[in-house]
Amino acid sequence: MEQTLAIVKPDGVARGLIGQVLARIEEKKLTIKAMKLIHMTQAQAEGFYAVHKERPFFGSLTDFMSSGPALVMILAGDHAIAHWREMMGATNYKEAAEGTIRSDYATDIEKNVVHGSDAPETAAFETGYFFNAFERV
Ligand code: CMP
Repeated sequence: MEQTLAIVKPDGVARGLIGQVLARIEEKKLTIKAMKLIHMTQAQAEGFYAVHKERPFFGSLTDFMSSGPALVMILAGDHAIAHWREMMGATNYKEAAEGTIRSDYATDIEKNVVHGSDAPETAAFETGYFFNAFERV
């Protein structure tokens, strides 16, 4: 069983999309192993997205990610990383496949509703960034 970090970003929480996202996760049989609502500081968002710190959008991205509550989760299942990324769709919602979360709900390349880890190493870093051993079932 593989694990991945999933986030309903501040735009998704503010727009009332938590229920839609959770329904898709349960429908596709990914198991929720941990979940909490957090409001990141900008420093916490910078730490989370440190890999993007040289990108031109880094300041705007960390402003956005610390602009309101976000739902962070650990999902588990066979090929959970790829499965969740397939459910999210491409980063740019205009390129996201039909029926994906970003295709259905995203409004902007940055405000793209959800996040998912992109590889096993990133999943290990990202799940550990938000959850300790006592917060996982
Ligand atoms: P995410 O999958 O969380 O990974 C990095 C995030 O940076 C991405 O989703 C978007 O929210 C944001 N992002 C990626 N590319 C761009 C871009 N070209 N312009 C603005 N934001 C971006």
